[in-house]
Amino acid sequence: MQLDIIMVLLLVAGLASGLPPIGNATLCLNVGNGEQRCGSCLQPVECQGQAPNDILNHCYPGTVCEQIKPNQVSCVPIASATACQCTSDKCDDYDAQFTVTCDASVITDVVDCTAGEQCVENGICSACAGTTGTVDFFVDQQCRSRYRCNGGVFYDAVNCAEGEYVSKDGTCSQAPPTPCAEADKCTVGFCPDLTNCTRYYICDPNQEPSATGPFSCPSNQCFDYNTNTCGPGCNCDPWTDCDFTSAVVTTSTSTTSASTTIASTTTVSLYTPPPNCDASSVGNFPYGPCDPHYWACRQGSGTSYVVVEMQCPNGLVFSTNLDYPYCVDPSEEPTCLAYAAEH
Ligand SMILES: *[C@@H]1O[C@H](CO)[C@@H](O)[C@H](O)[C@H]1NC(C)=O
Ligand SMILES: *[C@@H]1O[C@H](CO)[C@@H](O)[C@H](O)[C@H]1NC(C)=O
Repeated sequence: MQLDIIMVLLLVAGLASGLPPIGNATLCLNVGNGEQRCGSCLQPVECQGQAPNDILNHCYPGTVCEQIKPNQVSCVPIASATACQCTSDKCDDYDAQFTVTCDASVITDVVDCTAGEQCVENGICSACAGTTGTVDFFVDQQCRSRYRCNGGVFYDAVNCAEGEYVSKDGTCSQAPPTPCAEADKCTVGFCPDLTNCTRYYICDPNQEPSATGPFSCPSNQCFDYNTNTCGPGCNCDPWTDCDFTSAVVTTSTSTTSASTTIASTTTVSLYTPPPNCDASSVGNFPYGPCDPHYWACRQGSGTSYVVVEMQCPNGLVFSTNLDYPYCVDPSEEPTCLAYAAEH
């Protein structure tokens, strides 16, 4: 079986401290003191004075918050949870103001939509409220995801694959844009260079190739995408704000050395990822001695299984005891004690 190794360095700072404040005013309304609720997929909270208090431990990657009794919640493995399963980024099941980051079917972060926005679909935070007419919003700097608002209402979200962008006709094209492409709706005459606002092409569909250029506008001028001429004052095509250069897939089969939390200058050799990752070996595996990283074997899409690099939150390290595959305090991990003694 082909083993896909996806190196995903998680934003553990987000897990440790950066999870959003629980702002849902109705979550603890008429709920008794000390009763527990799920504030988000990763945040069990305790209700105090009818307000949510984020004082309980956050859920580790691979587990999510679950209401296990009427007044008690717990972090349970995703497979046994009734909510917060994911295959890609989505809205938090407990709070519509939050979007969750999903890596290989594991929720790794919870992000608050900006004030005035709400999570609507595929984890997109919509800023439609209050807009008039038809407005397009790109969700990310690579312009891979776009949605539109019409009269303040969200519609027509497009999500393209890694390395692609949403063309002007709403289809997905390979990044960076091809000059004079039909999908970008300018095929004849002067057309903007979608990668640089000071440049343009001359397009002629009867020629091969159809694009001549790029040409540069005179200094201190930009290409105005409404008039299709160079001019002072920059009325740049919205696509020129897209970052097409960083549309790079971060997959790799090699590992780099990491240093430990205890002996931060010591470079340790790493355990190799679990050689077999399949339905029978789904779980977490140590990465190296006294190391916050660990390997997670997870079901990917369909019947494929992937190995994902994970990291323990809150300064914890991953236990090298194969019978106890969890994040532990460094003081409980023998390999950390060995380092502490040596250094
Ligand atoms: C706030 O919590 C209540 C009770 O759990 C829930 O019904 C409601 O949808 C939540 N509000 C938002 C904005 O998610
Ligand atoms: C845009 O094009 C101009 C003119 O060719 C060039 O000087 C400038 O460096 C380009 N900008 C970027 C960000 O590539």
